[in-house]
Amino acid sequence: MKLLYPAFIICKMAYKWDECYKQLNMKATTRWGIIGPGSIARLFARDLSLIAAPQEIVAVLGHSEEGTDAFADEFNIPYAYTDPSRWLEKVRPDIVYIATPHPDHFQHTLDCLEKKIPVLCEKPMTVNADQCQQLINAAKANKTFLMEGMWVRFLPSLQLVLNLIEEGRIGNVLAIKASTTFRAMPEDGSRYFDPEKGGGSLLDLGVYPVYLAQLLLGKPRSIKAIAKLSDEHVDENCSILLQYRNGAYAMLESSLIAESDAPAEITGDKGSIKIFHPWFEKASGIELTERGEGKIIYPCSWAGHGMQFETEEVLHCIAENKIESELHPLSASLDLITTLDEIRRQINVEYPAVEAVEG
Ligand SMILES: NC(=O)c1ccc[n+]([C@@H]2O[C@H](COP(=O)([O-])OP(=O)(O)OC[C@H]3O[C@@H](n4cnc5c(N)ncnc54)[C@H](OP(=O)(O)O)[C@@H]3O)[C@@H](O)[C@H]2O)c1
Repeated sequence: MKLLYPAFIICKMAYKWDECYKQLNMKATTRWGIIGPGSIARLFARDLSLIAAPQEIVAVLGHSEEGTDAFADEFNIPYAYTDPSRWLEKVRPDIVYIATPHPDHFQHTLDCLEKKIPVLCEKPMTVNADQCQQLINAAKANKTFLMEGMWVRFLPSLQLVLNLIEEGRIGNVLAIKASTTFRAMPEDGSRYFDPEKGGGSLLDLGVYPVYLAQLLLGKPRSIKAIAKLSDEHVDENCSILLQYRNGAYAMLESSLIAESDAPAEITGDKGSIKIFHPWFEKASGIELTERGEGKIIYPCSWAGHGMQFETEEVLHCIAENKIESELHPLSASLDLITTLDEIRRQINVEYPAVEAVEG
């Protein structure tokens, strides 16, 4: 068994970002607004300090005053609001990062786009395909950048997997097995189990394995899903089987009630790749098996949580006046939520608040 560091991957990425920094360094500091100062926004704000070009958070919009003020204090943010009509009163950020519970993504993103403020919006960008299409239309009509925060797309670990597949090391991809699990406590107010907050394992966690399958195999020809629903009628866990025109398939799973440390497995006709747990975060390593060649393990490591990589892509796109990323285009977000809609239809999970507004 050989042990290799994926240094060439890091170098490849560093080269691209160096080019980006050259442009960004010529500009003033990028001034961020943040909506939804919760757990993931905290990691995002910390990872901003890992970006070489200067970044500053100039305003935050939250829900409770206490939580919003605490976030503003922690990150030295001069303006903190809980009233969306007053937010942007004093400063207009260069870009807004949105990390509210999923049903709120739509309106916050639309408001920013209509003011021509670029947006990086957490996954899933919306809770259904209709909303996603409306946001895409708004980004195009306002010629304003929009990207779903599908941060795994930009992690060096997934970049390595894509490179290995592109080099033909495992041949044609025949099958994918991946799960994303997290044992959430069903305490009062938890967004994970609340249908009003887009609760359920699929939109929070299942979005990752479904995205991995889409990235490697494209749009599925057929979708089959089953789930265990909670008393509140959201999916506590969900099992998904996707099939593709060329006969390849994906077996995917998400769960809020059981935890698994199974790696994601990609099997090809010449070999296989395992992304060790947690494959959708900072994987402990990647194992490549080439038929007749043995195994290579690539340990993975980088500073911070890893959200700086998607942020670098956003900054790069904005510096080039793009309204979408080529690496995670808006059509990919639409395809993803279209698949999630069909899964949700099959498992009978509805979000009454969203349906009521749209109905
Ligand atoms: N990229 C990733 O790895 C990752 C990881 C986790 C989550 N996420 C995504 O990020 C989003 C947030 O998840 P989270 O775990 O960070 O949730 P969280 O900890 O509950 O944070 C949500 C934050 O949004 C605030 N909020 C709620 N409604 C709001 C509104 N209308 N306007 C402004 N702020 C509002 C909440 O305030 P209160 O607490 O005062 O209500 C809280 O501060 C979800 O869509 C999730 O899918 C992404």
